[in-house]
Amino acid sequence: MAEAKPKKNPFQQEYGHFIGGEWVASESGETFEAINPATGEVLARVQAGNDRDVDRAVKAAQEAFATWGRTPAAEREQILLEIANRLEKRKEQFALMETLGNGKPIREPLFFDIPFCVDHYRYFAATTRMLNGETIPVGDDVVLIYHEPLGVVGQIIPWNAPLAMVALKLAPALAAGNTVVLKPAEQACLSVLEFVKEISDLVPRGVINVVTGFGPTAGAPLARHPGVNKVAFTGETVTGRLIIQYTSENIVPVTLELGGKSPFIVFPDCDLDQTIEGLALNLCVQAGQMCAQGSRVFVHEDIYDTFVEKAVDRARRIRIGDPTDPQTELGPLVSQEQLEKVLNYIEIGQQEGAKLLCGGGRPQGEQFAKGFYVEPTLFGEVKNSMRIAQEEIFGPVLGILRWRDYDRLIEEANDVIYGLAAGIWTSNLKLAHETARRLQAGMVWINRYYNFKSGAPIGGYKKSGFGREAALETVKYHYSQTKSVVLAFGEPHH
Ligand code: NAI
Ligand code: MG
Repeated sequence: MAEAKPKKNPFQQEYGHFIGGEWVASESGETFEAINPATGEVLARVQAGNDRDVDRAVKAAQEAFATWGRTPAAEREQILLEIANRLEKRKEQFALMETLGNGKPIREPLFFDIPFCVDHYRYFAATTRMLNGETIPVGDDVVLIYHEPLGVVGQIIPWNAPLAMVALKLAPALAAGNTVVLKPAEQACLSVLEFVKEISDLVPRGVINVVTGFGPTAGAPLARHPGVNKVAFTGETVTGRLIIQYTSENIVPVTLELGGKSPFIVFPDCDLDQTIEGLALNLCVQAGQMCAQGSRVFVHEDIYDTFVEKAVDRARRIRIGDPTDPQTELGPLVSQEQLEKVLNYIEIGQQEGAKLLCGGGRPQGEQFAKGFYVEPTLFGEVKNSMRIAQEEIFGPVLGILRWRDYDRLIEEANDVIYGLAAGIWTSNLKLAHETARRLQAGMVWINRYYNFKSGAPIGGYKKSGFGREAALETVKYHYSQTKSVVLAFGEPHH
């Protein structure tokens, strides 16, 4: 691995909350450190917000909504397009910030996250023109249907892909005419703050507000604030359950994008090399800290041995190291907490009797000593009932399961509390399609994993949450409310 090259820290020493168009300190005066997960180095200080900061932000968003909620669609369209342009123009800088703050290898933000975000803002710019309602004639009377913005939206996002998470939340909220209070994750919020700084002049004061801080002290007060008209959350399933409880206090809608334990199904007639690359991607992307990770790899018994051999060979060749190096495929996990969680699951897998095929620990060497690195790890002979097959590990760890009977395969693939995504690898498209329809998953990728498209709804079945992001329905049904206006032109009935 190449020596870690010193990179200039692109961040400010300290960041405020962004409230009502101003960068402000927490009312408590409390701050915390943002850490580079590859080196342990402190990158900046960030405000530790509390309920009083959230309250200020919600009030600013409420004030801004009075006019922003009535802006013509064409205006919001232009703003979203300009947000996309700004991000595209400074792609390299934002990629580096994402890498320093989160640990993801720079090839990811450069070639995946940021292009995805740019396309996303453009897609939602287009949706501003599609928020038309309907006219329903009923006898002589006429029903007019409108989609109106909700008001202030509280958005709580995780750390695994900060800028992409912001795009998924902010773009539809603005497209529909809502104002936003965003609470980024404490583990990785610097790129989010820099992004908001970059676009802050494009929207009126108070339309976008950001409060940084921890879940219970900044996230919870946002989710239960009576001035918030909708909550959108992405993160852990247990936290999602709390969010539902908080929003029940004010009877406001909520959308949740939660955990996953997605099947990655390999048929004997697949293109084996492509499938192995898909598997490598599942180990590497965000160091496996991906809600949609295809973490249960079901391989048909006819090709099981060959598949395992090739998979192990590929996993051993994964380039792990300094995430700012363009050659690096696998970077560190985001935090000490994630590191401990993942190492603990590797331990559990061995105790449960799964066969450790490769990896299984922290990589050796000076360059890894201060970062939260875990080797690419594959387990073989995994049974679907094992904890490593049922629980979200969120690391570069995959379990390989052997299958023989097709109906039994479908049963096992669905036998899990989650239903976020699934992957299918076969050259038989009829079989792929039938399989896709039988899987309980919100997103199914055939012959290419993580094949996200703006316009293709993202979201889960079962305990992976509800609501859909990234699509027209997001803006129409999850960030708007419907009003019917009934005009009586006919004679009265009585
Ligand atoms: P988390 O769900 O607790 O945190 C996500 C966001 O929610 C953060 O902004 C956090 O500050 C906030 N939050 C936490 N507790 C809150 C509360 N009581 N009220 C309001 N907001 C709250 O996820 P965490 O603890 O960072 O990660 C733990 C595990 O969750 C991971 O190991 C992984 O398995 C899963 N996870 C899944 C994600 C997904 O995309 N599906 C994303 C992040 C984590
Ligand atoms: Mg948590």
